[in-house]
Amino acid sequence: MENERMNWKRKHILGLSDFMPYEIEFVMDTARSMEEVLSRDIKKVPTLRGKTVVNLFFEPSTRTRTSFEIAGKRLSADVVNFSYSGSSQSKGETLLDTARNIEAMKPGILVMRHNASGAAQFLSQRLSCSIINAGDGSNEHPSQALLDLYTILKAKGKVAGLEIAIIGDILHSRVARSNLYCLGKMGAKLRLCGPATLLPREMSRTGATLTNDLREAVKGADVVIMLRVQLERQKSAFFPSVREYSRVYGLNEDIFSLAKDDAILMHPGPINRGVELTNELADCSRSLILNQVESGVAVRMALLYLMAGGAHAAD
Ligand code: CP
Repeated sequence: MENERMNWKRKHILGLSDFMPYEIEFVMDTARSMEEVLSRDIKKVPTLRGKTVVNLFFEPSTRTRTSFEIAGKRLSADVVNFSYSGSSQSKGETLLDTARNIEAMKPGILVMRHNASGAAQFLSQRLSCSIINAGDGSNEHPSQALLDLYTILKAKGKVAGLEIAIIGDILHSRVARSNLYCLGKMGAKLRLCGPATLLPREMSRTGATLTNDLREAVKGADVVIMLRVQLERQKSAFFPSVREYSRVYGLNEDIFSLAKDDAILMHPGPINRGVELTNELADCSRSLILNQVESGVAVRMALLYLMAGGAHAAD
């Protein structure tokens, strides 16, 4: 762990577009060490004692905020949660002023989510503490993609060469973007699927295959990742109605049966049950949706550990 720590050069994790495969592998290895900590009776190590992690969330979150909080506490960091409601942003304070005031209290790491693409990068250029992007608009959600990769590796033992379909509202999905970088760099063959209005043609430049045909996307896939339709980010009508969308792009057992027999189903959450996938599929034995959430704690522990420069995490 000590040598790994000394090789980690990044001060911020803003996205995965500029990550090298060895850095991604490095996070995976560190997360495996963290998973070992989480398997103990006492799931806590003193690694980040005396360090402060602030969760600065300007958008709602269940999984990401909670798992960063648990991850920080498992490493003995002091974790403080900031949420927009009840903050002075509602009195007109700017993002930068809010962040500078939080920084004046000397946190080591800010974990931030904001509805503006680029918000994490903006603050990283103006603050001196480390920043982990926990989702910025439609841009990136790096820790989600890393935990998705971790989940796939645990289930399949590899990612290189796997046929992975990502289906739904690709246009507005920061998860799709981060997964495109992360899984693509690790050698997966990616298929993106959604209605033409939600599937940017320029994404074919990444080497992914694009299709508007759900059956074509699912056929022979090893992994199917369904995405939520992000109505809150849609400023105009991208499809006639949610019902129509569900009829054409909702995953059901018949369509999922076109995937490989041992294919796994994933979703970053929150799920709109009955819209992008059926209840039966969401809860079936091949659904790894809750495994993704479980992986999130180990992966976020790894990120906090690497960012804080902590040593002896597994002691
Ligand atoms: N996947 C994800 O980011 O979930 P939350 O919005 O609940 O954090």
